[in-house]
Amino acid sequence: MSAAPPLDSDQDTALKVFITGASSGIGRALAEHYAGQGARLGLVARREHLLDSLAKRWPGQTVCFSVDVTDAPALASAADAFTTRFGAPDIVIANAGVSVGTLTEHAADLEAIRRVIEVNLFGIAATFSPFIAAMRQAGSGRLVGIASVAGIRGLPGAGAYSASKAAAISYLESLRIELRGSGVRVVTICPGYVETPMTEGNPFPMPFLMPAEEAAQRFSRAIARGDSYRVIPWQMALAARLLRMLPNAIYDRLLTRAPRKPRNSDTAL
Ligand SMILES: NC(=O)c1ccc[n+]([C@@H]2O[C@H](COP(=O)([O-])OP(=O)(O)OC[C@H]3O[C@@H](n4cnc5c(N)ncnc54)[C@H](OP(=O)(O)O)[C@@H]3O)[C@@H](O)[C@H]2O)c1
Repeated sequence: MSAAPPLDSDQDTALKVFITGASSGIGRALAEHYAGQGARLGLVARREHLLDSLAKRWPGQTVCFSVDVTDAPALASAADAFTTRFGAPDIVIANAGVSVGTLTEHAADLEAIRRVIEVNLFGIAATFSPFIAAMRQAGSGRLVGIASVAGIRGLPGAGAYSASKAAAISYLESLRIELRGSGVRVVTICPGYVETPMTEGNPFPMPFLMPAEEAAQRFSRAIARGDSYRVIPWQMALAARLLRMLPNAIYDRLLTRAPRKPRNSDTAL
């Protein structure tokens, strides 16, 4: 973590952006996108060496925190350090997430189920919580949750992931209404398939697959507009809407033979 002195926030008009899961994939692409605009960045992930190599590219405008998003006190310290250095953030993006195939009938998968829900759901709340008071006081800003199309209907073989993202969508909706009128907007983004380490081993076709850089561009536009809920890309939004309308009997028949994310209860998440 950098111990640089606080900036004079009155004179610093640059965008201030705090991103979790910044060491890879979408989070890293978002960091690169905002760094390109001269933003002040707070970057969170567990793999410190990856964060450090990113921070070296943007000296003086980046602070890194090697933190697990399920560790709420550590995130609170990171938020405090970020705010002391740069001031209250304009944008907080809770992007860190994990995905693994799970099957409830295997007791060995229970730990993975718990972990996926902790990281993908609790991690969002723990990321936002320490910033809300300062952002309310500023009367502005965006709290952005990266959910997934997988949260729109349950996917077989990915019960934990689907459940965590469905819960994230509902959680973000609750928060959006809690903060209504405060000036702080809550933005829910449901990506379709994005080319990242999370999807590179998927043994099935991924329609409308987007490069992470393109995803970051599109997400940033939804964030700037303050969209309450956005499925990206639009083709996936359409597909998701159709899937939502299908009666269970048809949805179940269609999905029974759908290819699944492999189980891997041995992987440390
Ligand atoms: N790729 C897609 O097609 C897709 C589609 C829909 C939604 N999403 C969502 O988009 C987000 C980013 O995914 P991605 O595709 O970019 O995956 P990724 O390349 O695997 O990146 C995941 C990021 O989350 C971080 N992370 C994971 N667990 C963490 C923890 N406990 N504490 C702190 N950081 C943690 C990882 O960093 P460390 O390992 O260094 O901690 C990494 O930076 C996720 O929420 C994912 O569910 C992705």
